[in-house]
Amino acid sequence: MAEEKISRQSDSVQQAWSAELFATASQTWSELLSEHLWKVTSGAGPVLNWADPVAAIRAAGSFLDAGKPADSDELIQRIRGLISEMLSRGQNLHHPRYIGHQVPSSSPVAGLFDAVGSVTNQVMAIYEMGPWSTAVEHALIERLCRKVGWESESSSGVLTHGGSLANLTALLTARNVCFPDSWRSGLPDGAVLVANADVHYCVTRTAGILGLGVENVLRVPVNEQRRMRTDLLDQLLSQLRRQGRPVMAVSACAGSTPTGAFDDLEQVAEICTRHGVWMHVDAAHGGSVIFSDRHRQLLRGIERADSIVWDAHKMMFVPALCTAVLYRNREVRFQTFAQDAPYLFDPSSPGMADIDSGMRTVECTKRAAGFGLWGLWSLFGEQIFADLVDQVLERSQQFHRMLQEADDFESCNDPACNILTFRYCPDWPGASDPELNWLQREIRTRLIRSGEFYIVQTSLEQTVVLRTTVMNPLTTTSDFGDLLDAVRRTGKQILGERSAGGCG
Ligand SMILES: Cc1ncc(COP(=O)(O)O)c(C=O)c1O
Repeated sequence: MAEEKISRQSDSVQQAWSAELFATASQTWSELLSEHLWKVTSGAGPVLNWADPVAAIRAAGSFLDAGKPADSDELIQRIRGLISEMLSRGQNLHHPRYIGHQVPSSSPVAGLFDAVGSVTNQVMAIYEMGPWSTAVEHALIERLCRKVGWESESSSGVLTHGGSLANLTALLTARNVCFPDSWRSGLPDGAVLVANADVHYCVTRTAGILGLGVENVLRVPVNEQRRMRTDLLDQLLSQLRRQGRPVMAVSACAGSTPTGAFDDLEQVAEICTRHGVWMHVDAAHGGSVIFSDRHRQLLRGIERADSIVWDAHKMMFVPALCTAVLYRNREVRFQTFAQDAPYLFDPSSPGMADIDSGMRTVECTKRAAGFGLWGLWSLFGEQIFADLVDQVLERSQQFHRMLQEADDFESCNDPACNILTFRYCPDWPGASDPELNWLQREIRTRLIRSGEFYIVQTSLEQTVVLRTTVMNPLTTTSDFGDLLDAVRRTGKQILGERSAGGCG
């Protein structure tokens, strides 16, 4: 019957807004996505659907020229075709052999809650445009602050679209608090930001955006575990004080990007307090270990930070993007933007600026970023986050042991969490460092394009290493064993081709 009614509607606009069409289309959507998840989670098919990017762009563009469907049957077929295309051409993060970037195999159920926000277009900035999304965000921020160890009455925060925007937001607040005139008259001469040498590029980028200049990000070297050298941090801050150079903040890592190292936050806090400097912790990756009784100690001292960035779309396993910016001191919450917006600060509704998110985030219209997290947390309680952290960290330790036991692999970090770096080191007499670097890159390229595994690479100083982040609760030790075999096989093949080509 629904189909009949749709067929009488000829106008595209009517169809695009039709609840009946939506009912039929969403059944197709659900059927295709469920089939996809069955297949991918069981490990069938490729991880990455690699395609030449130019060809992929051309293919995507070709759908835009399809014109209007003849009738509702064709419309439903087209919906089926478009969704199938999307599913067959993407990156399959739910495949157990996706062990790549710090983007998780997110809970599909969490995605259902995000989809409600998407279909009903719940947005934020002011409470009345998204009363429930705003309530959800406040409830989540309160819980996350409490997990850090802060009273919800004295702390504050917002959700925003990802760790990069979150670091920008938090450091903008730090800038305006530390240099109160900077919003109107710019930065004081000689101002710097001090950061862990392994800081994520978005923090450096923030220095460019905020007018500090990327050259004024002073990087504190890391030790052999790639944790910030706190003795050198102390020395640097003393030196800057002697030189009269104002410090905007110290940015520490809680789960650094290259290797997942956690700075000694207690020491960093001690030093920042002594020097009277704003302490920022980029806990985009590692904030979630706070849920785990076993691993919480990695974050000891985080409660002394002035600001924290914490990605729920990393180790809380919800779909991107959902990031919290948290402030220990509630007083700073409106200092991110020293700006008047009379239509938002409505004198007839006193107190609403504290509820509305618009005065505290870069975004005006903001997606209801918290629905997936709120849904998952409400369904299973916070224990699920502890379980996920414990599980992926334990699997990472197992993989680390396998790497150490393999004669032809070198483990390049002792993983504090779930990021592992390693190299394939075959018996290749006389191989130079650049040749070994080339081999790692070549192995990764072939491996990911084959669809067999998805892993990434990074450079630790001048050394190219393969890098995996265990971000999928479905990845098992047998996948790790198969990964080592696949790397070996690919490496041997590359070296075989090289010597056959006369270069070996
Ligand atoms: C430590 C750290 N900070 C910030 C970011 C950026 O976060 P997002 O990708 O959510 O913008 C990342 C990304 O991996 C990260 O590892």
